Amino acid sequence: MFQVSERIKAIAPSMTLAISAKANELKAAGEHVINFGVGEPDFNTPEHICVAAKEALDKGYTKYVAAAGLPALKKAIVKKLKKDNNLDYEASQIIVSNGAKHSIFNAIFAVINPGDEVLIPKPYWLTYPEVVKSCGGIPEYIYATPRHGYKITAAQVKAAIRPQTKMLIFTSPNNPTGAVYTEDEIRAIAEVCVKHNIVVLSDEIYEKLIYGGETHFSIAQCSPEMKDLTIVVNGVSKSYAMTGWRLGYLACPEHLAKAISSFQSHSTSNVNTMTQYAAVAALEGDVKPMNEMIEAFGRRRNIMLEKLDGMKALGLDYVKPDGAFYVMLLCDKLYGKRYKGVKIRGSMDIADMLLTHKKVALTPGVCFGDDDAVRLSYALSAKDMLEGLEKIAEFASEVE
Ligand SMILES: Cc1ncc(COP(=O)(O)O)c(C=O)c1O
Repeated sequence: MFQVSERIKAIAPSMTLAISAKANELKAAGEHVINFGVGEPDFNTPEHICVAAKEALDKGYTKYVAAAGLPALKKAIVKKLKKDNNLDYEASQIIVSNGAKHSIFNAIFAVINPGDEVLIPKPYWLTYPEVVKSCGGIPEYIYATPRHGYKITAAQVKAAIRPQTKMLIFTSPNNPTGAVYTEDEIRAIAEVCVKHNIVVLSDEIYEKLIYGGETHFSIAQCSPEMKDLTIVVNGVSKSYAMTGWRLGYLACPEHLAKAISSFQSHSTSNVNTMTQYAAVAALEGDVKPMNEMIEAFGRRRNIMLEKLDGMKALGLDYVKPDGAFYVMLLCDKLYGKRYKGVKIRGSMDIADMLLTHKKVALTPGVCFGDDDAVRLSYALSAKDMLEGLEKIAEFASEVE
């Protein structure tokens, strides 16, 4: 018997594990479980992308390629960053990795020294603090409150900065809240970061999934100074329904890209070669399937919000999300009350009770550092969604 490293001990076990294990048990027992916990599009990868991967295989593109990415793919990413974000990068500033999650790990590993503080808006995507801790960094949270549309302000960032603050993790559109920051809000935050020399890890994985009239703006667009402090992270998982392919990328200043490239050459080498050819087809091919998927999400969002509007009288509330495919359902008004005689103490209890008694699975907000809400994904069919929301309403009406 030996001890695992202190580094790995710092990583918290996944809080969603117990809920998803129970949901799987119920499904295996033949129960119809409606799952609002999904974090990926329920659409197939568009045909032309699959064809590109098959062609790569047929042509024998099955060997190692450059660790930091296939030149053709880097070129496609450079073009995408210019076309969609008006950002100028050289291919040497792009690193292709095994999903945006891997890009985020690389970025934090390459920037954070033990003891450095990283500002993370809360609620947060649960991977961020664990990666920061695994690199010896210290997560410091800035509370994005529902009252402010789940958005942090420049003043909050300024107030949180200390001499040991090195990085801000910024996510717009946001998981879990669906918040989309406006250009003005982003410019104000950028001003503070430039003034205090704070590196911004800008997670833009949900860039394409925006509804309600907002548009995506990258913090790197604010100024050349801000761009020099920004690591833009993006990928194909969410926009092109390619979660299982595992391809993400980052764009950053040259000296950092060089360091990450060396590290990746010793850790994972290149992302699998067929996936990289598929990603070229995703970025350069027909956008119609992607747009259809986005429209479908938009329609479901409207259905969900309309239904949630009708549930306000039951003590449930929400902040209108403009992006991604999630909504945080505020349920703190039910805390302290009882369901079937059992006291409701927080979001984990709500999730557990809904699963046990209504066969509805969702993610408790406590997993994202916010116990006042539960997260509902609308990456499921409208039929299931309506049935599931009906059951949530039924549950809330039975709380005493
Ligand atoms: C905010 C955020 N960033 C990054 C990722 C990771 O995406 P990928 O599948 O590219 O690793 C996710 C996936 O859920 C996410 O929600």
